[in-house]
Amino acid sequence: MAHKIIIIGSASMDLTVQTQMIPEQGETVLGENLLMAPGGKGANQAVSAARLKRDQDVYMIGAVGDDAFGKQILDNLQQHCVNTQYMQTVEGEHSGTAHITLFEQDNRIIVVPAANNTILPEVVLPILQQFEPGDFIMMQQEIPEETVEAVIEEAALLGLKVILNPAPYRPLDKKLLDKVAYLTPNESECRQLFDESMDDALAQHPNQLIVTLGAEGAVYFDETRQTVPAYPCEVVDTTGAGDTFNGALAVALSEGQSLETAIQFANSASSFAVTALGAQGGIPTREEVDEALNK
Ligand code: RIB
Repeated sequence: MAHKIIIIGSASMDLTVQTQMIPEQGETVLGENLLMAPGGKGANQAVSAARLKRDQDVYMIGAVGDDAFGKQILDNLQQHCVNTQYMQTVEGEHSGTAHITLFEQDNRIIVVPAANNTILPEVVLPILQQFEPGDFIMMQQEIPEETVEAVIEEAALLGLKVILNPAPYRPLDKKLLDKVAYLTPNESECRQLFDESMDDALAQHPNQLIVTLGAEGAVYFDETRQTVPAYPCEVVDTTGAGDTFNGALAVALSEGQSLETAIQFANSASSFAVTALGAQGGIPTREEVDEALNK
């Protein structure tokens, strides 16, 4: 029986537009194809884990506002069989939103956290007592810094394993790193987190630091630098590819797969994620990933 997966993080509404031109300061341009769909790094990771799981329970701890977006965000999590019993609806608050511009197959994102800022230690820490040693916690950085820090400390006491996806970047107390089972920055977050080169950082954190490199796959260190290649795919929208990777990684690790196999599984899942519009639009099912890996 696999361990539980608990995602503590943001749940937002993504408002995505495509454009052929990025506006200069003070300029207005026309865009096209408005897409309004649930997103937020935490919710994307929860949906990824829930679609890819075998027998794990996937929980989400987070918050939405008491607005129409909040209802849609919760419905979406429930439709994907994410356990939402620890989600709060905050009265008088807006749900988080992400304002996404797609331009030349890449994205620019402004996040307004709103209700996500109410996910504070006093809300989260009591809930953690419900889980058992060996269960997996996954966090990102669209929730208050004090919560991420307090959860890492508490998880260490409770024997819960933390996967921290340090996105978006903000400085991280290096002392906390020792208490994290896995850290999963992308290349630019890795550069900002460590004073040393990526190779040196990998060697300093064997089997703990996993750097995602987009079309190049992912790297980690196990006696030597290990590269796990990405799978070729047709890119439509890269939004949420990292979240799909993280959700899949948590599923595979909670099943007891080796780190290398878990990263292969996560690379395969994220190769599906980029083939459709929206952060959650391309997240594959378990059957799709298993079939692709067995080819
Ligand atoms: O990682 C992608 C996510 O980042 C989007 O869904 C958006 O909500 C932003 O938070």
